Amino acid sequence: MKILITGATGLVGSVLVKKALDSGHNIHYLTTRKGKLTEFSHTKGFYWNPKTKEIDLSCFEGVDLIVHLAGASISQRWSAKNKKEILDSRVAGTQLLVSGLARCKEKHQVKQVVAASAIGIYPSSFTTCYTEDYKPQANSFLEEVVMAWEKEEDEFSSLDVGLCKLRIGLVLTKTGGVLGPLKIPTQFGLGAAFGNGQQTQAWIHIDDLVQMILTAGEEKWQGVYNAVSPNPVAQKEFIKTLAKAMRRPYFMPPLPKFLIRLVAGEMSVLVFNSQNVSAEKTVKQGFVYAYPKLFEAIKSLL
Ligand SMILES: NC(=O)c1ccc[n+]([C@@H]2O[C@H](COP(=O)([O-])OP(=O)(O)OC[C@H]3O[C@@H](n4cnc5c(N)ncnc54)[C@H](OP(=O)(O)O)[C@@H]3O)[C@@H](O)[C@H]2O)c1
Repeated sequence: MKILITGATGLVGSVLVKKALDSGHNIHYLTTRKGKLTEFSHTKGFYWNPKTKEIDLSCFEGVDLIVHLAGASISQRWSAKNKKEILDSRVAGTQLLVSGLARCKEKHQVKQVVAASAIGIYPSSFTTCYTEDYKPQANSFLEEVVMAWEKEEDEFSSLDVGLCKLRIGLVLTKTGGVLGPLKIPTQFGLGAAFGNGQQTQAWIHIDDLVQMILTAGEEKWQGVYNAVSPNPVAQKEFIKTLAKAMRRPYFMPPLPKFLIRLVAGEMSVLVFNSQNVSAEKTVKQGFVYAYPKLFEAIKSLL
């Protein structure tokens, strides 16, 4: 297959590109950074800029599957400017991709789109287990962003291509992501829970996520799927498991909520929100997780 990937230079995209190439696929990718444009035998970069609505339409040539991951990082201070960038990059990026594909009309052969979404669409709850049937409401910044993003992604369906939206949980990777900053204090025996540590964290191993993206593309999954492991854990359990996997002690008292809020500001909701998200639909779809349990998942990444 020839796959067009947006956000291919990011945490998830870079691993996806490697896995797709190893599986024999050809890659086209869209980047906003001209310095990241390259051309090798099986990969070719194309420029786009959602802010100026520029897109190189030849990116769609021969493409069977689009994987849309692009969006400004949410792990940056939520100033008014950054919040606008987080929302606009997703809305304008998706609009540009949809309109670009529409402009190619009969000339393209795209059959399926796998589009990133996030479990941030679900409000924080200590009691609810969220399935894909949940009817979202924009009661917080994150919910607002993800709803607006998914609404634009739905426009792909009007172009007569299949659409699968993956609501991604916390992605565990070797470098960066959520594990990167947590590994440092844990290494020194200073790993500590955030707040009371009872908030549920729905996570997924990067290998499972990229395999799920490719499977959703190959098998043409339709609709919304939660991209999380079947075993979410309380945040305290997460830190405890990380310490165990790193063979370090875990004895630190939890870090008080107010302190984290002081340092991280509004984006501290990212560590305090409790999201128990169900993987039942992906399991029923036949997807087999290589890393369903947290300990083995972390161990494989150390
Ligand atoms: N990592 C997670 O734990 C997680 C969890 C839930 C959902 N997600 C979602 O999954 C997607 C991929 O995640 P990731 O962790 O790989 O993200 P990432 O490392 O931040 O990479 C995102 C990519 O988006 C592109 N981008 C950044 N700002 C942009 C802008 N203003 N306009 C257009 N493109 C822009 C960049 O590509 P170029 O610089 O090459 O243009 C970048 O490589 C994201 O949309 C993210 O929200 C991630």
